[in-house]
Amino acid sequence: MSMTEDHTPLYRSNIVWHHSIISRSEKEALNRHAGVVLWFTGLSGSGKSTLAHAVEARLFDMACRTMVLDGDNIRHGLCGDLGFSVVDRSENIRRISEVAKLIAQTGMIILTAFISPFRSDRVRARHLVGNPDFVEIYCRCRLDVCESRDVKGLYRKARNGEILEFTGISSPYEEPIEPELVLDTDLQEIETSVSQILAYLRKRQVIRMGE
Ligand code: ADX
Repeated sequence: MSMTEDHTPLYRSNIVWHHSIISRSEKEALNRHAGVVLWFTGLSGSGKSTLAHAVEARLFDMACRTMVLDGDNIRHGLCGDLGFSVVDRSENIRRISEVAKLIAQTGMIILTAFISPFRSDRVRARHLVGNPDFVEIYCRCRLDVCESRDVKGLYRKARNGEILEFTGISSPYEEPIEPELVLDTDLQEIETSVSQILAYLRKRQVIRMGE
């Protein structure tokens, strides 16, 4: 690959950013709410997708524009070429971060549900998206509870050695250090967690107080 003097690929020096006519704040004004990325992280079976969809349903009822990006779905398409090695998971999270960033700039509320087990990947996601737009929501759930739920039967397979590098069993999950929200999804009802998230969005003025 040809490189420029500052070591960026040569083709990039021929690409110029094209600015929108309509600004993000104009789009947010039209939507009547701010753009944000709600980044759900936690073990498989910790309730990330369930919560993301439940919050989306409540936001939809408030006429908010939303999109859920869910690990199991995205891995069928955009990230269908990736597996579960450290490198592949990192690339998975990088791509999702870039997509989430683009959508948040249109003033939408993005809800991402990925295990995202590595702290460094989540830190990079926060930087890529832009710190104030990035809300890390830790779905804290004991492993034995996730395992007993085993909705997809994957924990059983992982214990039998049929799936390698399974998060929580044979691959690590690094807990967030200072997430914006911690939800004890093994202890509390889904509705309680949904209310916590909506209260946070009101406090941050992503959505309006009366809604
Ligand atoms: S991440 O680690 O890269 O963030 P992601 O959220 O996209 O993972 O995908 C996780 C989903 O893939 C799990 O909910 C589970 O259904 C499935 N899966 C298949 N193999 C594995 C594995 N080795 N580790 C974790 N999840 C797996």
